[in-house]
Amino acid sequence: PLPSDLYRPLRANSKGVEFGDRRARDALLAERDAERNRLRVAAPSYGKSGVAPRDLRSPIDAALIGSVVEADAQTARDAMAAAARAFPAWEATPVEARADIIERAADFIEARRGLFIALLQDEGGKTLDDALAEVRESADLCRYYAGQARRLCEEKALPGPTGEDNRLRRRGRGVFVCISPWNFPLAIFIGQIVAALVAGNAAVAKPAEQTPLIASEAVALLHEAGVPHEALHCLPGDGALGAALIGDANVAGVVFTGSTAAAQSIHRALAASTGPIVPFIAETGGVNAMIVDSTALLEQVVDDVIASAFRSAGQRCSALRLLCLQEDIAEDALAMLIGATRELRIGDPRDPSTHIGPVIEDTAKARLCAYLAQRRAEGRVFYAGAAPESGSFVAPHIVRLDRASDLREEIFGPILHVATWRAQKDEDFLTLVKDIAANGFGLTMGLHTRIETRIRALAEATPAGNLYVNRNMIGAVVGSQPFGGSRMSGTGPKAGGSDYLRRFLREETVTINT
Ligand code: NAD
Ligand code: ALA
Repeated sequence: PLPSDLYRPLRANSKGVEFGDRRARDALLAERDAERNRLRVAAPSYGKSGVAPRDLRSPIDAALIGSVVEADAQTARDAMAAAARAFPAWEATPVEARADIIERAADFIEARRGLFIALLQDEGGKTLDDALAEVRESADLCRYYAGQARRLCEEKALPGPTGEDNRLRRRGRGVFVCISPWNFPLAIFIGQIVAALVAGNAAVAKPAEQTPLIASEAVALLHEAGVPHEALHCLPGDGALGAALIGDANVAGVVFTGSTAAAQSIHRALAASTGPIVPFIAETGGVNAMIVDSTALLEQVVDDVIASAFRSAGQRCSALRLLCLQEDIAEDALAMLIGATRELRIGDPRDPSTHIGPVIEDTAKARLCAYLAQRRAEGRVFYAGAAPESGSFVAPHIVRLDRASDLREEIFGPILHVATWRAQKDEDFLTLVKDIAANGFGLTMGLHTRIETRIRALAEATPAGNLYVNRNMIGAVVGSQPFGGSRMSGTGPKAGGSDYLRRFLREETVTINT
């Protein structure tokens, strides 16, 4: 039985498109194509910045797709002050009205899927199915958090002695700074913002420097859905702008998704503050492993490894980085895996038959290529695919390691590391789990086995926030697989889960002696 009705689905998740249905797929492509080939501009949604515009180019083919004006330090201070002024009125807006606005935003997202898919592809380099999945997840997050806010923000009577009236209420905290990455430039960007807003906070959002156009359209949509302009500001800019926002005197909370290093830097900055102690929600990286034993169904393993390691060009925090194959089956599994990897089509993600699009930018490509050159020099590159020369493409690679514990850093691209393990004694399995956990991260983990006791043992001992057994390990569904890790992978609470909003709320108990 589930622990509470908070886990009941609040409303059906956003509907997908069956790509095998030619008519439905073509309709989606027509909606997308109607939004392409126009130059867009992203700029701070508040004030006038003195920063010169910067061209934005697609990671697919370096085509010009628009420009961005980033916020300067003064704009950041002004926007934070404006949000602080707007907070009391927004917080006083009944939760029902706030939730209605956020649900309207979900409907708008679905209605404008063509626009968002066009931008997720042109600016984010996503394949069609990844882009559609992200649009759906964005709508799901809006509806899920709206439903949770209705439940959590309702005033509750509490038990107490006769003659005493005890009440608990939950309210917004003030201005939340929302800082997001480029790899889910719509879902994570909008998920953070709507959680903050529906809980009664004002929000100042700083999107990733690579994806300001998507962010600008998302914020325009939220304003159009009814979020007061003063209660939500979007400030494009880099990490230094994010650091400035966190240091602002009006910060009442910070929600961050991105690298572990940036989260640690924000954590240090908040810890050094002499002002109010504010909540910090961080969702960060992972060195995610999948364990496969000799009882696993190898055809299924191969499908799940390909999806987990190479889909989205490996640019998911949840992606599989380290495959641990039981020695007895390693040779067969690797031969099958290489065969399947060879079949992957790498290229323009706007073509629906493409499996792997580009990485986000040339600097990411250069970083991954330098890493591969080092592994090649060590004789560890076991398989190297081929990718188009122009554009920011990196082909899938398989790198062999001696031990699972040899991978300590998150390599954010289509590079799969493989190590073998020996199962001579019962404890060998849990020793392997401990070796994996020694990397300090705890985001996702996979297991393929038909041994029930191993499934139970890993469910008990997993170091990961999300464990996936006998399936792939990406694409957590809002409300069904609340997402997020611990240790170097984040603070929790889980996004798309029933405890997420609580962290955005302050709680007050009022006791009246009647
Ligand atoms: P990043 O840390 O470089 O940047 C993320 C955001 O933080 C950007 O908006 C950036 O401008 C900002 N930033 C950077 N330094 C900052 C600082 N010192 N102070 C304030 N803001 C700062 O990460 P990225 O390259 O954009 O994204 C990829 C990373 O995000 C990967 O590590 C991935 O695992 C992680 N990620 C985690 C999750 C999750 O849910 N756990 C989801 C998606 C991505
Ligand atoms: N929530 C995303 C996934 O599960 C990162 O793949």
